[in-house]
Parts: sequence; C-alpha cells; structure tokens
Amino acid sequence: MKKLQRAVADKLHDWLEGIEAEELLKLMEVPSDASKGDLSLPCFKLSKKLRKAPQELADQLANAINGSLDSQSGIAHAESLSGYLNIYLDPKVITPGILRDILEAGEGYGSHQEGSGKTIVVDFSSPNVAKPFHVGHLRSTVIGGALVRIFKFMGYECIGINHLGDWGTQFGKLAVAYRLWGDPGRLEQGAIDELLSLYVRFHEEAERRPELEAEARAVFARMEQGDAEMLEQWKWFVELSLSEFNRIYELMGISFDHITGESFYNDKMDRVITELQERGLLEEDQGAMLVRLDDYNMSPALMLKQDGSSLYHTRDVAAALYRKDTYHFHQAVYVTDYSQSLHFRQWFKVVELMGYPWADQLVHVPFGRVSLEGTGFSTRKGNIVKLEDLLQQTIAKVREIIEEKNPELECKDEVARQVGVGAVIFNDLSSNRIKDIVFNWEQALSFEGETGPYVQYTYARICSLLRKGREVSEIFSQSNSIEELHLPDSEEYALVKQLSLFPQSVESAAAKMEPSILSRYLVDTAQAFNRFYHHCPVMDAERKLRDSRLLLTEGVRITLNNGLKLIGLEAPERM
Ligand code: ARG
Repeated sequence: MKKLQRAVADKLHDWLEGIEAEELLKLMEVPSDASKGDLSLPCFKLSKKLRKAPQELADQLANAINGSLDSQSGIAHAESLSGYLNIYLDPKVITPGILRDILEAGEGYGSHQEGSGKTIVVDFSSPNVAKPFHVGHLRSTVIGGALVRIFKFMGYECIGINHLGDWGTQFGKLAVAYRLWGDPGRLEQGAIDELLSLYVRFHEEAERRPELEAEARAVFARMEQGDAEMLEQWKWFVELSLSEFNRIYELMGISFDHITGESFYNDKMDRVITELQERGLLEEDQGAMLVRLDDYNMSPALMLKQDGSSLYHTRDVAAALYRKDTYHFHQAVYVTDYSQSLHFRQWFKVVELMGYPWADQLVHVPFGRVSLEGTGFSTRKGNIVKLEDLLQQTIAKVREIIEEKNPELECKDEVARQVGVGAVIFNDLSSNRIKDIVFNWEQALSFEGETGPYVQYTYARICSLLRKGREVSEIFSQSNSIEELHLPDSEEYALVKQLSLFPQSVESAAAKMEPSILSRYLVDTAQAFNRFYHHCPVMDAERKLRDSRLLLTEGVRITLNNGLKLIGLEAPERM
C-alpha cells in the first residue's frame, strides 16, 4: 500500500504548490471503513497552510483527480466529503502488484532497510539470580524479544542483552545461610526455591541474631574484593539460577547476544564516580553520595552507599557508557515494568549532566503489570508465581484440547508446546504495552477469540487448504498468472488490502516500540481471511478463480507466518 500511497502523494503534489509529497504521504490515512475509500487525505492541516477551506480544497483535489484519470494509475475515482479527500482505487489494477510483492518476497515480505548501518541495543528480561522469574520478567522477555526481531527485520543490527541481577549484598546473606543450613540435595532439586527459602530463613534468624547481618556483610565484602573462594560460591548460585532461567528461555525460543549481568560492571564503576566528581555533580549526604536532580523535579539519584558499595543507578550508567563504547548504538532500549520509570528518568538525566550528548538515545520502554486471574497462581504472596509451572500447565491444557479435537495429529507434544507458549506470549501482547493485563486461561486459550491459538489455527487451516490445492509455486511461475488474477469478490479485495498493510504495521510497531500493533494486525488478518474463506469457495471454484484464490491464500500464509515469527510465535502447519 505504501507504494500506492507514494504514487498518489506524488500526483497530488503537482496540484498543491508549496506542499511536499512527503508531507502528503504522512497525512494520508487508510480508512478502516471501506465506504470512505481506500485512501483518505484529511485537508484540515493543509487548509491552514494554503488558506483555503478544507472542503474547498478537497473539492478541488477530487475534481483534479477525476479530470485526469488514466486506467493504469490504479485510481478509480475520488470524492470530497466533509473536508476529506477520499480516493477509491481500482482493485483490478492494484491487486496484482500487491500479491506479486508478497509472493516474490516470501519470508522477506514486510522487511525493510531503514535501519541498515545502525545498531540498537535492547536490554530485556533481566531476572534476578536466586529469585523467581516472575510474570513481570516474562512480559519483559516477550516484549523485548519481539522488539529485537522487529528491529532486525527493519534492517538494524540489534543486540539483545540480559542484564541479569547477579550482584549485591544478598549474595553475602545467601553464602552465610547456605553454610549454616544448606543442603546440596535440595538445591539440585530446585535451586531457586531452595535459595529463596534460605534467603527467607536468613532474615528470620537475623532478627534474633543480628550478628548474622554483620557476617553477611563481611562475606559480601570478600566477594567484592575478589576472594576466590567466595567468588566460586557466588558463581555457583548464578549458574544454578541461570540453568532454571534457561529452561524458560528454551521453551519460549528466546536467546540473547550477551548475558552480561550487573556483576560485569564491577570494574567499570570507578570511571562513573570519577567523572561525576570531576564534573562536580556528586554531593555527600549522610555518608552516601548522590546527584541532586531537584531542578528536574526528581528525587536525587543515589550513586554510592554509605559503605562505598554502588547502586542500581551507578551500574546502569556504567553499563550505558560501556555499551556506547562497545556497540556505538543508535539507540539503547530498556524494557521493564513502569514502576521503574523514575529510575530510568533519573539516570538518563545523570548521563546527560555528565555531558554525553547521546543521552537522548537512551529509551525506557515501560509496560503494565500482569495479574493472573482464575489460574490458581497468585502474585500477591510475594512474587512466588512459578512461571515455569504456568507455562507447563498451559501446554498441558492445550495438549488436552488437541486430544479432544484432533486425536490423529502427529507430534502432539510439539504442537502443544508451540500453541501453549504462543497463547501466553500473545496474551502479553494483546493490548498496548503500558496497560495492565490479566492472564486467564479460558481467554488466552480460546480458539475463537483474539488470541494466539486463533491466529495459529487459521494459519494451520490455510496450510491444509494449500496442501489440497495445486502447487502454488507452479501457478505463480506460470506466465501471466498474476496479471490475469481474477478476484471479483469484495471480501477478496478487503483481504488483499489488509495484506498490503503489513509492511506499515511492522514499521509502526518498530517506531512506537509497540509489538501489540503486530498482534492486532495478525488478528485482523486472520479474521479477514476467515471472512473470505466463508464467502468464497476455493477448491470448488472454476480453475482460473481457484488458482487466483490459491495465490491469495498463499499471500495470507506468508504474511501470517512472517508476523507470527516477529512477535515470537511459532506457526505449526497442522494442529
Ligand atoms: N533486574 C531488574 C529487575 O528485576 C531489571 C533490570 C532491568 N535493566 C536495567 N538495565 N536496569 O527489576
């Protein structure tokens, strides 16, 4: 559709002195209601610039277009309506071009070169060692993973980083607790559960025996000084946790370019403190060091604790400096829940005050909370939602549904995993990321609702239809098959137009860092296909019509497949 929009913008530009085609392109809309045309230009902004009433301008443009129609341009006619110029395209002229683009590009359909030569670093997932991987980390993993794939598709070099929470005083406490009450057997069974219960026990006992706190501090100090034995212990805790996190990542098909946790920056913090001092930004307050941000209406950013140990802010600044030096990023993106918004605003400001002009390339991508309704998993009792259990139970439920609906299916376990994980991911992307969302099994697993399983099921039906039809590649390679497309029905045209909007959806998901634009797009596309399929027989149609409809169906398959992959869902061919 973009190509056509560009052609129309160029044409309109000829009649509008002083208005660039690029500006017209930006103003142009694709009305969701087909009765308002295929493209629409609101004339309100232009009317101010050109000092002409919107209605008059729209009238004038409609007349100009209608007076100069030529059958090749793809424009059928134009109408002026309440200040809008509505343009109707000629399906017969535009459909072949749209379908050819899709069929030729295949897996590349919707991709872009916009980002070529530029690097984006995405900091996402980032759970904390020895603590459970909770639904908030899941959402960061889903949104961050989708952004990485979308940016790559847009031509960027994209680097995914897991900023693992693997450093802090809690490791001193864990080491002490483990020495006193640890049990290797229990650790092997479920490391994070066991580490968490050691941590809880430490706090309980420390109430009665305050000397434990001092001991833990001493142990952590030894870790900070690089004591080999203590570091060995710390490393073991990290590895045990990571192997649990990795099971989740594997289930979800997520990988990182780097797992550089907070500890990676231990030797990179001095630089931050020195630079802050040199710039006179650091102020002492009751033994701690901070950067005042009163002028920017924010509470101070704490950079060094009383005991000299550094903080979350300092580490993030050190990591940003390192990433800029190492990857020369065009943008550095951080995906966390919105409760951390202040934290990011604070340290982004600190980087700016340090004199780094690229501070404006740091972007926080916040998202809303997830609550688990009717799942039997509770977020209230601390963050003890065992995410892996939630995923496994979802998969088991899908397995039951398959057993009931399609007992003959091969590879049931694999498909159950693809659909179960897909349902959880899709649910996370079901509305704008900033909104709080609810996970509810019945909703997420519905094959009829606006869900992952619904899109995947539509995809599998398409694959099955294509298996019955003549080889699409054979039809496509026949000369003239595209020029002679015969798709007379309005549901067909609606579907073609919907497919043509995919590249724009990818672009806008990337620009707004909003993967839900794609999940919305996929539901709309699946619905458009199902309407088409309901109205238009494919296999029973006469030869030419059937071939045309098969090509269209292949276009839908390609588009759904590309979109599903971008947001992190697999596309099983049978289910
Ligand atoms: N580990 C942190 C948490 O669980 C998230 C880290 C996000 N990334 C960052 N660079 N601050 O809340």
